[in-house]
Amino acid sequence: MASNHLTGIGSESKQLATWYFTFAAILFGAQLLFGLVAAIQYVMPGFLFEILDFSVARMIHINALVVWMVFAMFGAVYWLLPDETGIETIGIKVGKLLYWVFVAAIVVVVLVYIFVQVGPADETSIWFIHEGREYIEAPRWADFGIVVVALGFVANLFMTGMKGKRSGIVTVLMADMIAFAGLYLTGMFFTDNITVDQYWWWWVIHLWVEATWEVYVGALAAYGLITMIGAHRKVVEMWLWIEVAMLFGSGILGMGHHYFWIGTPEYWWEIGALFSALEPLPLVAMFIHVLYDWGKTQGAQDATGQKLSVINNKPAFTWFVLNAFGNFLGAGIWGFFHTLPQVNLYTHGTQFTSAHGHLAFFGAYATILIGMMYIAVQGVNGIKVMKSTRSSVWATWMIAGGVMGMTVALTIAGYVQVLVSRAQMGATWAGYFDGQSGLWFAQAMDWRLIMGVVTFTGFLFLAKDLLSIGKSPIHER
Ligand code: HEM
Ligand code: HEM
Ligand SMILES: [Fe+2]
Repeated sequence: MASNHLTGIGSESKQLATWYFTFAAILFGAQLLFGLVAAIQYVMPGFLFEILDFSVARMIHINALVVWMVFAMFGAVYWLLPDETGIETIGIKVGKLLYWVFVAAIVVVVLVYIFVQVGPADETSIWFIHEGREYIEAPRWADFGIVVVALGFVANLFMTGMKGKRSGIVTVLMADMIAFAGLYLTGMFFTDNITVDQYWWWWVIHLWVEATWEVYVGALAAYGLITMIGAHRKVVEMWLWIEVAMLFGSGILGMGHHYFWIGTPEYWWEIGALFSALEPLPLVAMFIHVLYDWGKTQGAQDATGQKLSVINNKPAFTWFVLNAFGNFLGAGIWGFFHTLPQVNLYTHGTQFTSAHGHLAFFGAYATILIGMMYIAVQGVNGIKVMKSTRSSVWATWMIAGGVMGMTVALTIAGYVQVLVSRAQMGATWAGYFDGQSGLWFAQAMDWRLIMGVVTFTGFLFLAKDLLSIGKSPIHER
């Protein structure tokens, strides 16, 4: 019988990882469905009016996005921890309990969003309904629950890292996860001053996606390259340290690009412009890093003509390579486009922002986390070499192609807004509407919807593939 990861050392940790991945995949599907509702509402404004309003569909779309990624990120750590430390994760029983606390909290929060869509906003609504903070709307009671879950997770990571072998990957993760969890606290207090409120809110959003999450992805890429193509640990870990230093450097002050127009002092223009413009550099380094390791595997043979290194998990590796491209394009290129204050003055808050938001979140995070789900499927089923199935290929093309298509459509819509609403009509009330009633804008919204349907269809292939690829007979075991 094939050996699998659910019997050896670390089997408990890996089982918990698969739970995390499963709920993440379900939430990913939900995210896309609510995104589709919001996209239909752009084209047909009356769609589901007073049943599921745009504001609520949009809120669930982007909060589900953040939450599924956090679930998958916790899952990936629980997956790689036994491999990197050589021991079972410590505190795994508590970890499993906290998992259910987390799931229950999220389900209740979403149900409340759906059932209480309109009403007065006061102190109680912050505690029980939502906080009105884009991306991290969880009401305060759930905030505290999330903090407890995150502390439990970080404690398990630390205890295991201290006791077992401590690789560079684990050390980076330990430091990074403390920062990741700690930053959540900055989005938990409320002030009456909107500028102060936004100031701290950006600490969560920007310092997550442009600092702590990027470092996390570096660690994950290092682990993935070692497990999938046998990359040399020394090489990937050296790159990892360089990227960590660069990311923290540029990411922290790069936050200035969100302080341009929210009432903070003007010196943020210069700081934001300089450091955010540097942000793509570590992303380029990561990109080169992955391609370099990948290139080294091509055609290498030993004396007998045997291939030296094989890619032992084709679908996962495909998603990891997409991550290198996607991170570079979505965060690096699409981010750089509008990061200088001179440009941002015109593009701020147009569909341009949305184009960047979609490609960056997808390219930098969705891709590599989907790749990790494939690594888990391989491990659970004890498969030595996992090849792509027809569904793997359809899923990859339709999801990646669909998101790229949406990004192009949104970029065109953004240009219309920049030219008509901002440049031509001078950001007036009339200009705002003129920008959105032109033919180009309307067609772009149609295309976004079409490409959204393509993306969702790709997701269905992905779900089928993840559920069935471990059982298909074409895999060498
Ligand atoms: C993976 C990393 C990144 C992710 C996930 C990401 C995601 C996002 C999202 C979702 C927003 C919209 C926030 C809102 O609702 O207001 C945003 C805004 C922005 N991002 Fe990024 N971003 C990333 C990296 C970058 C980088 C590297 C740059 C610069 C080189 C950048 C530049 C900007 C700018 C200038 C804005 C403000 C847009 C506006 O004025 O409306 N981003 N980002
Ligand atoms: C079925 C596919 C999808 C559709 C139809 C869709 C649709 C939408 C719509 C209509 C909005 C609201 C835009 C607005 O307020 O003007 C939105 C926002 C957003 N979506 Fe999606 N989406 C999809 C998939 C995704 C994916 C795969 C990601 C990332 C992994 C994503 C990330 C975001 C983000 C970050 C925002 C906020 C953007 C901002 O305010 O700047 N979406 N999406
Ligand atoms: Fe940012």
